[in-house]
Amino acid sequence: MKTKYLYINTIGCQMNVYDSESIARILLPLNYKETLSLEKADLIIVNTCAIREKAEQKVFSFLGRLSKLKRKKKGLIIAVGGCVAQQEGKKIFTRTPFVDLVFGTQSINRLPFLIKTVETKKERIVDIKLSEYMDEKKRYNYKNNGKATAFVTIMRGCDNYCTYCVVPYVRGQEISRNSEEILYEIKSLVDSGVKEITLLGQNVNSYGERHGVSSFSELLLRVNNIKGLLRIRFTTSHPKDISDDLVACFKNLSRLCKHIHLPAQSGSNQILKKMNRKYSKEEYIEKIDKLRGACPDIAITSDFIVGFPGETRADYAETLDLIKRVEYDNIFAFKYSDRPNAAAAAFLNKVSEEEKKERLKNLLNLQQHYTALKNQNYIGRTEAILVEGPSKKQNKSISEWTGRTSTNRIVNFACDEKILANELSANKLINVIIEKSFSNSLWGRVVFNNQKACHKGKKNYAA
Ligand code: SAH
Ligand code: SF4
Ligand code: F3S
Repeated sequence: MKTKYLYINTIGCQMNVYDSESIARILLPLNYKETLSLEKADLIIVNTCAIREKAEQKVFSFLGRLSKLKRKKKGLIIAVGGCVAQQEGKKIFTRTPFVDLVFGTQSINRLPFLIKTVETKKERIVDIKLSEYMDEKKRYNYKNNGKATAFVTIMRGCDNYCTYCVVPYVRGQEISRNSEEILYEIKSLVDSGVKEITLLGQNVNSYGERHGVSSFSELLLRVNNIKGLLRIRFTTSHPKDISDDLVACFKNLSRLCKHIHLPAQSGSNQILKKMNRKYSKEEYIEKIDKLRGACPDIAITSDFIVGFPGETRADYAETLDLIKRVEYDNIFAFKYSDRPNAAAAAFLNKVSEEEKKERLKNLLNLQQHYTALKNQNYIGRTEAILVEGPSKKQNKSISEWTGRTSTNRIVNFACDEKILANELSANKLINVIIEKSFSNSLWGRVVFNNQKACHKGKKNYAA
């Protein structure tokens, strides 16, 4: 059978990254091989995100670029999947008539059939059925392409209905995967060379609750016992579901990284209530104190939304106050964006775009101060790094590498490729002395077990 080429553009969160990997695997039997060239592709799939208006605009601007290609290349198939596909369904054909297939977030299992039908019958198809049961096994082919890190989705959907959020509508009800299946998938990834696993879900710490399969902390304990796995991360946790058992995991589980992403969204109790977040500012701070009590150097990051409908200057000041009190390691912050279906779209007292922009700018400026300060504190420390590969700035004359600390800081360093490979064959994590800090990363020098510094790195870069 002739090899055909598949180009996937993934927009959105890590769950879409995981889904795109599954899509590529599930289409292998149809002889589709991944390519990074749009021109070469016989099938282009856009895996989309609907979380904010901007993300949706990104989808349609990319699709716009494809209409010319479609005219030029006979037989080219264009498919739209993911959250915008789930949300818009066949309306996508009206806006972009050259699209052949629209498939939803739970239609991935059926993709081989759907693509085959488009190929042979040359007809346009929409499949956005949300089904309670997903046969995850069909999607596995556990070969890893040499990466040290991998994502594993442990639950799908969300039942929280935060009033600003589109996820429950586009990803369906919360469904936890069977823990045996998850453990099997992780073991297979570890056997293929993966060292760090990130467990994914919109609300990972409510894992198992709805189906009574096992609690999240029980799952973590079992993952921690997998031989050969060095690090465990998870995202995203909901503050309302931070249990004492989970807090204790940060003290007791040797492989669990010292980082938690715990989105607060707002520091105002009035706004948190309107958002349907089910915790107060005080309860949130209490959880942070517990986490720091169990693991004093844990890195804490968060998401914030500014300009939620009805957010007054006083509400906004409460958010700034929360940021000051927690002293986050880093945050993501967004201007509130109306989403179809989400309850807040109908809320009154919308905040003007200008005001949202101003609030976002000031909030990010405030956090910048803490991020820089916390990064500076790393200078002089020796940190264990999991090497992920060549750094983004890699060029031919210099060997620059990148990895992360347990606290999820990016660390770049220079080292001769052969020396590094030799070290990595014996030690999976390497020690790096941090020498410089930047706004989004750190720079370090490798210290090998025999305490000799990496000479190439030292010669070129030591401060
Ligand atoms: N499940 C996770 C995150 C989901 S989406 C959680 O509960 O935290 C990632 C982030 O996007 C959210 O944390 C929120 O800060 C932001 N977000 C979601 N909907 C939004 C909207 N309508 N406008 C602006 N930001 C939004
Ligand atoms: Fe959206 Fe809230 Fe669910 Fe997160 S917990 S995905 S913000 S509804
Ligand atoms: Fe976006 Fe869907 Fe993820 S809306 S954030 S890709 S769950």
